[in-house]
Amino acid sequence: MLRYMTSGESHGPQLTAIVSGLPAGLPVRAADIDRDLHRRQGGYGRGGRMAIEHDVVRIVSGVRHGFAMGSPITLIVENRDWKSWQAIMSAEPVEDVEGKRAVTRPRPGHADLAGIQKFAHTDARNILERASARATTTQVAVGALCKALLAEFGIRVGSHVTELGHIKVSPELIASLSLDEIERRVEASELRVADPSLEAEMKRLIDSVKADGDTVGGVFEVIATGVPSGLGNVMNWDERLDGRIGQAFMALQAIKGVEIGLGFEGARRPGSEAHDPILYSEHSADWPEGHGPSGGFYRKTNGAGGIEGGMSNGEPIVVRAAMKPIATLMRSIQSVDFATRQPFDASKERSDVCAVPAAAVIGESLLAIVLAQAFLEKFGADSLVELKRNYEGYIESLG
Ligand SMILES: Cc1cc2nc3c(=O)[nH]c(=O)nc-3n(C[C@H](O)[C@H](O)[C@H](O)COP(=O)(O)O)c2cc1C
Repeated sequence: MLRYMTSGESHGPQLTAIVSGLPAGLPVRAADIDRDLHRRQGGYGRGGRMAIEHDVVRIVSGVRHGFAMGSPITLIVENRDWKSWQAIMSAEPVEDVEGKRAVTRPRPGHADLAGIQKFAHTDARNILERASARATTTQVAVGALCKALLAEFGIRVGSHVTELGHIKVSPELIASLSLDEIERRVEASELRVADPSLEAEMKRLIDSVKADGDTVGGVFEVIATGVPSGLGNVMNWDERLDGRIGQAFMALQAIKGVEIGLGFEGARRPGSEAHDPILYSEHSADWPEGHGPSGGFYRKTNGAGGIEGGMSNGEPIVVRAAMKPIATLMRSIQSVDFATRQPFDASKERSDVCAVPAAAVIGESLLAIVLAQAFLEKFGADSLVELKRNYEGYIESLG
């Protein structure tokens, strides 16, 4: 069973993840994790924090000589900013109340108010330090391990931004591009968009909302290719792959909607145009791009986004998520001070103006984690050698 837990505050000394259940013998390289940590920090429209932090992982358990040992893997990412926050975030009592920099003014759109009420705090810093998307750093590190596992079986996970504010990449353009071409374009783009002609317009939008003290959200898509049919489980609601993907994506900070395949668009179509005809060919040349092992069965279209009945069906898994605009603005939003009960204009603070490209990279990690969990459930093994044997036996059984 693949499990993980993360800990760490945004301005604490470090972020930590403990991952248990990865098979022994899995090649693990810190450089692969660092590559994704770096991708998470990028994107046009990020705030000052990302200029301070240059995340690198330290692997302190579970890996020896470049291979997973089968024991829990502990990953640590240090917060460089911690130096300026030692008194404010001190684990030991601090005399100087000023030094604690208490936050009594809850920011709309954040966890601040519900959090202080729930935990009986008077200082919202005790909430916001953990509510921050900084916590996703460790999820990305865990996701990189899961990507390494999936790659052993030809499964790849990528992402791109499909909408930024009102600007939308044409779905027809995306459909006309190979997955390799989308990846090439996206990795060369500061906004992870596959249509270079829209990039300048999107940057102008970010610049103009920033000049207005405002922020902007968007939509991103995550695609997993090479996924075999049969991951997830139709038999129990909480084992369904679509449900687990929905949970993982909805739990990401600022995500307010998730679609799989056609998603909401499917609801607008008649059934005859929403479902994917089943075809069969023994020749891999006939199978659609990104198709995974499924015994020669494939779909003419992929409106289902690679999942039917809560199980992968061999087609690429396609997930989209809608990110709300960042809630911390340079212009004010009305709020009420928790201590004095007096109204105030919520703090005008420097933060990200747009973090949709970063959220897309985090989305890759979330999908990789859910797929790796479902993969290990189906082919469960203690070592990579055993896992490959189980996987190959299943693929053979598909015919
Ligand atoms: C990659 C990423 C970066 C974010 N950066 C910021 C930020 O700089 N400022 C901010 O106010 N919110 C930011 N957010 C969003 C908040 O973390 C989130 O809106 C807040 O914790 C409330 O949670 P909720 O929106 O899920 O309700 C970011 C989210 C993500 C995914």
